Amino acid sequence: MSIPFLWLFLSSWPLVAVFSHPHHPPTHLNRRGSSRGVPPQGFYDPRNGGGSWLTEVNDTFPIGLGEPLNVVLLGSSDPAVLVDQQNDGGLRNYFLSFGFAGECLGQHSGSDQEANLGDGRGYLNETAVMRYDYGDPTLGTCKETVEGGNHFRYWIQSGSSANSGAVFIASSYELPTQLHHDIIFNGYNFARDWLIGNATAQSTLIPTENLTNGTTFSGQTSYAGYVYQSNVQYVSGFLSNTSNGINHFLSVGANGTSAVDGLVAFVDVKILTAPSGASVKSPARPSARPSLFAIAVVLMSMLAAALFP
Ligand SMILES: *[C@@H]1O[C@H](CO)[C@@H](O)[C@H](O)[C@H]1NC(C)=O
Ligand SMILES: *[C@@H]1O[C@H](CO)[C@@H](O)[C@H](O)[C@H]1NC(C)=O
Ligand SMILES: *[C@@H]1O[C@H](CO)[C@@H](O)[C@H](O)[C@H]1NC(C)=O
Ligand SMILES: *[C@@H]1O[C@H](CO)[C@@H](O)[C@H](O)[C@H]1NC(C)=O
Ligand SMILES: *[C@@H]1O[C@H](CO)[C@@H](O)[C@H](O)[C@H]1NC(C)=O
Ligand SMILES: *[C@@H]1O[C@H](CO)[C@@H](O)[C@H](O)[C@H]1NC(C)=O
Ligand SMILES: *[C@@H]1O[C@H](CO)[C@@H](O)[C@H](O)[C@H]1NC(C)=O
Repeated sequence: MSIPFLWLFLSSWPLVAVFSHPHHPPTHLNRRGSSRGVPPQGFYDPRNGGGSWLTEVNDTFPIGLGEPLNVVLLGSSDPAVLVDQQNDGGLRNYFLSFGFAGECLGQHSGSDQEANLGDGRGYLNETAVMRYDYGDPTLGTCKETVEGGNHFRYWIQSGSSANSGAVFIASSYELPTQLHHDIIFNGYNFARDWLIGNATAQSTLIPTENLTNGTTFSGQTSYAGYVYQSNVQYVSGFLSNTSNGINHFLSVGANGTSAVDGLVAFVDVKILTAPSGASVKSPARPSARPSLFAIAVVLMSMLAAALFP
């Protein structure tokens, strides 16, 4: 089997499953709201439903500035990953696999931002804020809160008029508390790329200034026995390459660098392996899929063995 065919197969099978089993009994996922429908590109463009690729931040000067939704976890990802929980390999476990945990001791600090994903629900506060944990999921985010670092807010596109299940992330790299949590120079683009660099286990920094429409990265991370495969593609045309309308535009964009380079990183996430016993009770996997999943795991292992002998 050729490698391009393998990639096609791996990237298309969850969509096939979603569209070819419209009548299977409600799964854990479907019960969250009306039934999910994932368009071919893996998300609905918020602008088509009156939304925006910028968040809304209150009390900015001038008023009305926002921050970029610069990473999207596609609705075509493994359904279990898109469930907002730490159990069963869910979203919080995936975040932990690349070093992001909930806020310090469960205390919400920092201001809320609202985003409109065009899913019929209008502007909503972020679901949660996740912070880089400096290798310590329990207390590391306290260090991030005080010393600054990478963090992100996220929203899930799950309203009835655009229920893709995609997760929209606004990432930024902030300065220490005593500097009022301003964003570092180029801190939206860098935060996106350091997040993607960690999520795809890169050994070197992603070269922010050399990214173009279509650049790809992929790699694996794991946490609590779940191994995730993240395939990333950067795409332009959703965000503008600009400093106009961007929060902290004076310090983030400077000397000819736009505060936002206009690229969004789209991530397709698959669970390659689950802890023994877990896949049996995985709630989001319809009956026809375990065998396909098993085949995919075997093929991925073969590919890995071929590429990294
Ligand atoms: C921002 O301000 C508007 C108007 O005062 C208010 O309705 C909204 O809830 C505020 N949002 C946040 C996140 O504080
Ligand atoms: C968002 O949170 C703020 C408090 O930070 C609250 O005033 C506001 O009503 C919330 N907005 C929505 C849409 O729930
Ligand atoms: C991973 O994230 C940390 C914290 O943001 C950053 O210092 C590091 O450079 C990132 N690694 C890669 C490969 O991007
Ligand atoms: C970006 O591309 C240029 C030209 O190919 C190269 O010289 C430079 O080293 C690259 N930068 C990084 C950080 O990879
Ligand atoms: C970026 O590339 C995609 C193909 O991957 C293409 O459909 C799209 O039009 C390109 N965007 C821009 C702004 O050129
Ligand atoms: C922009 O350039 C000026 C003059 O070279 C320099 O003082 C300043 O630190 C630069 N700003 C950033 C954010 O790099
Ligand atoms: C953004 O625009 C600047 C010029 O303003 C250009 O140098 C840069 O390559 C653009 N970035 C992308 C990712 O298109």
